[in-house]
Amino acid sequence: MWTMWTVQRRRERATLVVALLVCCAGAILEVEGVEKVYTKSFFSPVFETSPGNVFDPHQNVQFPEGHLAIRSFTCEMVDADTGEPIPLSELYVHHWFLYKIGVKKGFKALLSSAPLPAPHLPRKYATHYLRNPLHRMAFRPEAQPVQGRLKVPQVCATEESMNREDPFAAGAESRHTEISFPAPYGYVTGDMSEYEEGYEEAWYLNLHTIDLRGVVDPRGCFECRCDLYNVTVDVDGHPLPDDYKGGLRCCYHLTNCALKPGVQAKPRRTQLKYTMSWVDYDESVRPIRSYFLDATDTRASVYDRADCKGEYDIPKCTDGTTHECIHTQQCVEGLPNGGDLIFAFLHQHSGGLGGRFFNEAGETLCESLPIYGHGNDASFVEGMSPCNPKPGSVSIRTMEALRMESNYSSNVSRTGVMAIMKVYVADPVVEELEPLTVRDIEQVVNSVE
Ligand SMILES: *[C@@H]1O[C@H](CO)[C@@H](O)[C@H](O)[C@H]1NC(C)=O
Ligand SMILES: *[C@@H]1O[C@H](CO)[C@@H](O)[C@H](O)[C@H]1NC(C)=O
Ligand SMILES: *[C@@H]1O[C@H](CO)[C@@H](O)[C@H](O)[C@H]1NC(C)=O
Repeated sequence: MWTMWTVQRRRERATLVVALLVCCAGAILEVEGVEKVYTKSFFSPVFETSPGNVFDPHQNVQFPEGHLAIRSFTCEMVDADTGEPIPLSELYVHHWFLYKIGVKKGFKALLSSAPLPAPHLPRKYATHYLRNPLHRMAFRPEAQPVQGRLKVPQVCATEESMNREDPFAAGAESRHTEISFPAPYGYVTGDMSEYEEGYEEAWYLNLHTIDLRGVVDPRGCFECRCDLYNVTVDVDGHPLPDDYKGGLRCCYHLTNCALKPGVQAKPRRTQLKYTMSWVDYDESVRPIRSYFLDATDTRASVYDRADCKGEYDIPKCTDGTTHECIHTQQCVEGLPNGGDLIFAFLHQHSGGLGGRFFNEAGETLCESLPIYGHGNDASFVEGMSPCNPKPGSVSIRTMEALRMESNYSSNVSRTGVMAIMKVYVADPVVEELEPLTVRDIEQVVNSVE
């Protein structure tokens, strides 16, 4: 009760914006009561995309400097020359995610100047880029990137697969999905105690885009159908299984989707514009941990080994009735370190009908539904409704069996769809501010006497 009151009071205070100033490297500073909230837009490196092109690099990108707590994140692909947002029907955003690693001091610039999205790069180098990023940067052995000490164990991690937290991640739905945490919660960045002496923190972006201008079959292209990419081996040169008809293994960095004959469209200079707000870190910040649940996980219980595939196919329904034409994918997973649910939303592709997850008692903890675009973008998911329960009102226990379900329309067959629920939690606030009972107060009074 006391806790809730504190949180609420902070929220009210946050609406009292006293001043708007431009400060500190172009960030906008809002002084909200006693709190200073900074907001700034950043841009990923510009790349040039032509009809049919796929880009999927990992790149070092700008991020606010210092020991901070990120409060909100939005992003959008923009034309680098006009600054205008690009319709998804022209440039599809398959996914993007941001992650932090430690880099030896002095090498960040070297890493950012690496020739990243270069279409002229020989395939074997492109392949290196796409493997796990630490491996990729072993290219520059001097830099020796490391993960921070305070690793957050991930739901889908196995002994071999990397255990990386991607605190900010989504896809086409980012156009209308703001990731945000109410005060005093925030995603903490720039905590140098996480790294050994001699390292600094660097943020990396993996951005996967598909240029849909002039392609033969737009849906086939953004669902990464292998025949349209004329691809029979994956990014590492391994032959693809015969039954692999489409998905990420066919639309990797520098592949091209089939074009209509005679398509002439100019290359377009483009980049990701991402806007963040943050506060300086202090003791009052309540740190956010981020996880994702993946509907493709086939483990039978939370304590079994994770088996996440990231993507799945949907067969066309055999019966024309509406009910029959909903495909439901389900999984059971647990958070390695539970807490109060602060924010969640689902990542789905075109055809998505939403999804939700339930606690062990079968109660719905979050339902996230798609928002479709308009006009040429009507078939794209441009937003997902988020869940942002009152902090403290929804809690998830460590390794509690959470069931997630994801629905897609199966009117048509689909390849490589996703259902990834981003889940943000924080340590519960309840215990520490438990109000004193009358007996305790008497004791205190007595002990003073
Ligand atoms: C498809 O790939 C094969 C082998 O890599 C190549 O010979 C052929 O020309 C390609 N077809 C098209 C349409 O690009
Ligand atoms: C998913 O589809 C099933 C079966 O039609 C339905 O019962 C459920 O409510 C749907 N869930 C969501 C989140 O739409
Ligand atoms: C399938 O398509 C029909 C007609 O185009 C539509 O009425 C129905 O709602 C669709 N079903 C789903 C699950 O989207």
